[in-house]
Amino acid sequence: MDLEALLGSVSLFASLDRRAISGLARQASRRVYGPGESIVREGETGTALYVIVRGRVRVEHGSGPATAAVGELGPGDFFGELALIEDKPRSASVVAIEETECLLFVVWEFRALLKEHPQMALPIMNALIERLHRAER
Ligand code: CMP
Repeated sequence: MDLEALLGSVSLFASLDRRAISGLARQASRRVYGPGESIVREGETGTALYVIVRGRVRVEHGSGPATAAVGELGPGDFFGELALIEDKPRSASVVAIEETECLLFVVWEFRALLKEHPQMALPIMNALIERLHRAER
């Protein structure tokens, strides 16, 4: 699948038109993480939003023996939006379970995108609601 088709299939970008999607494809950088590799660390400053192209990641709180898994994400899912929206440190760590490829959007790109396309707030809200329900279960 080419990059534009892939971006168009991600819920976060579902409301964007073709022109916006091809702009996104030019901005995104791709990175591959090995199994066990840390992608985002709890407490660090957020610099990018991540969209998973392939692979799986685990979202964790805490460190060492006190580490607790709080979720798993896969292709088409995104993470790392909270620190960029709130301007606060990363709320959790994200670790690759298997080889995982992500698209990265740097903070200013994500903020500009959200300002220009405020309807992107809807899939972000849906992801937050899903996490909240999972946490309550
Ligand atoms: P951020 O706080 O920037 O960095 C860690 C990311 O993990 C966070 O943004 C969310 O995208 C994601 N995240 C945090 N908590 C959960 C959860 N319970 N389930 C799934 N993803 C989460």
